[in-house]
This record gives sequence, C-alpha cells and structure tokens, in this order.
Amino acid sequence: MTVAADAAHLIAVRDLAARYGHIEALRPTNLHVAPGEFVTILGPNGAGKTTLLRAMTRLIASTGQVVFRGRDVTSLKTHQLADLGIIMVQEGRGLFGDMSVRENLKIGAYKLAGSQVDHDRQLEKVFSLFPRLKERISQTASSMSGGEQQMLAVGRALMADPKLLILDEPSLGLAPRVATEILSTLGALNKEGLGILLVEQKAPLALKLAQRVYILSSGSVRAELPTHEIKSHHDLALYYFS
Ligand SMILES: Nc1ncnc2c1ncn2[C@@H]1O[C@H](COP(=O)(O)OP(=O)(O)OP(=O)(O)O)[C@@H](O)[C@H]1O
Ligand SMILES: [Mg+2]
Repeated sequence: MTVAADAAHLIAVRDLAARYGHIEALRPTNLHVAPGEFVTILGPNGAGKTTLLRAMTRLIASTGQVVFRGRDVTSLKTHQLADLGIIMVQEGRGLFGDMSVRENLKIGAYKLAGSQVDHDRQLEKVFSLFPRLKERISQTASSMSGGEQQMLAVGRALMADPKLLILDEPSLGLAPRVATEILSTLGALNKEGLGILLVEQKAPLALKLAQRVYILSSGSVRAELPTHEIKSHHDLALYYFS
C-alpha cells in the first residue's frame, strides 16, 4: 500500500518486521490507528507485542514502512517521532527514580520548552487526571507505589502533548482497582480525541475501552476485529490459538 492510501490514518505500519539474531520476533505486520481511535493489541506472552511497539517507535531496528499523518516517517529516529507526537509509555515505566514527580514531569515536557503557558496547561491537565501526582509532587519517583509510578509514567507522556499515545502493558503488576483507574483515564483521554495504541493483558477492560483489537501470536497478527464483535472470552481464546 502507498503513503497516499495510508494518509487517512493517524499511523499505519506496512510489513513491519523485526528480529533478534535468528529469532524472527515480528513477522511482516500491517496495522493502523485511525484519528481518535483506541486500538488494543492482545496476545500471549512472547507473541511479539513489545517488539511491535519498539519497532514502530524505532527503539529497535526493523524493516517495513511507518506512515504518520500521511507522512512517511520510516527513516526517523525515536526522538524525531516523539517530536511529531508519537509518545510511548514503555513496559517497566522508565522513570528517573531519584528524581521527584515534578522533575519527571518536566522531562516529559521537553518539547514545550520555552513556553511556560503550555507547560502549566499540560501540568494542570495531568494533575486533573491524576490528582495523586499533585499531592506527591516533591516525592521521589522510586518512593511511590507501583500504581502511582504508572500514573507518573502516563503523566510524563502526556506532558509531551502526544498525538498518538502508545502504552505497553500499563497495568502490569498493579492491583485491579488501580489498573482500572489508569485504563479508564486512557478511555477519557481517547474521548477527547487522543489516538491510543494499547498492549494489554487485562483483556475485558481493554476491550471495553477499545474500538478495535489486533490479536498477535507467534509474531503475526492472527485477527483484527472491532471489539463489539467479540462476545465472550471463548471467542478470544479461539483467536489466540487458531
Ligand atoms: N532482546 C531480545 N533478545 C532476544 N530475543 C528477544 C529479545 N526481546 C524479545 N525477544 C524474543 O522475541 C519474542 C517476542 O518478545 P516480546 O517481548 O515482543 O513479546 P511480548 O508479546 O511483548 O511478550 P510479553 O507479553 O511477555 O511482554 C520472544 O520470543 C522473546 O523471547
Ligand atoms: Mg511485552
């Protein structure tokens, strides 16, 4: 498919593939997120979900094409993609543990440098979504609970004013209540028009929020379908193992 054909999408990847030595972790994969869409990627451990996100954001070498808002961005580096608004919250969060909540958020806002008004507006938005971050503004990231750290990781990503927010299992290791809180916030952001690509194991909630789902298994997309077509866990299991 051509760049022109992908122009209607927020992001589209064509034949994206990646390997670690002789391991073909991601076989040529096509995927897209429409403007304002919430897309979830499900799949068992080792399916290639993280590899797909890393290939998309150029954290690892890959082959294939990436088109963002009608522009071929295949040759760009991770930080250049971030400048365009493609922001990822990685598995493991990647926070600066010795730095405070304030400092971590400030790092996320590097793109807004120079504009205090933009910075303050983003900060207020993050605090309204996650009031707990405001309460803990001077606390170091490493002293926060797992859920709070994940809120900070999402908050830091939002400080960069993303056009597409990509998240790799943000609920990993969190208590159900906190996981629900964080995923619901993603739903609220999507309602405001933010495009979201979410890798998630908490399938029921992720499917409630998303409009479309890709099922990845053994490095390939096994199914792509609107979430309203998934009636039960039994259906999902069929896709996983087909
Ligand atoms: N740095 C690496 N070196 C070698 N092999 C790797 C590396 N990272 C991942 N792999 C392999 O690539 C495959 C896909 O891994 P990936 O992390 O993308 O899966 P995943 O779907 O994100 O799994 P999980 O749900 O456990 O996070 C796995 O077989 C994994 O062992
Ligand atoms: Mg993973």
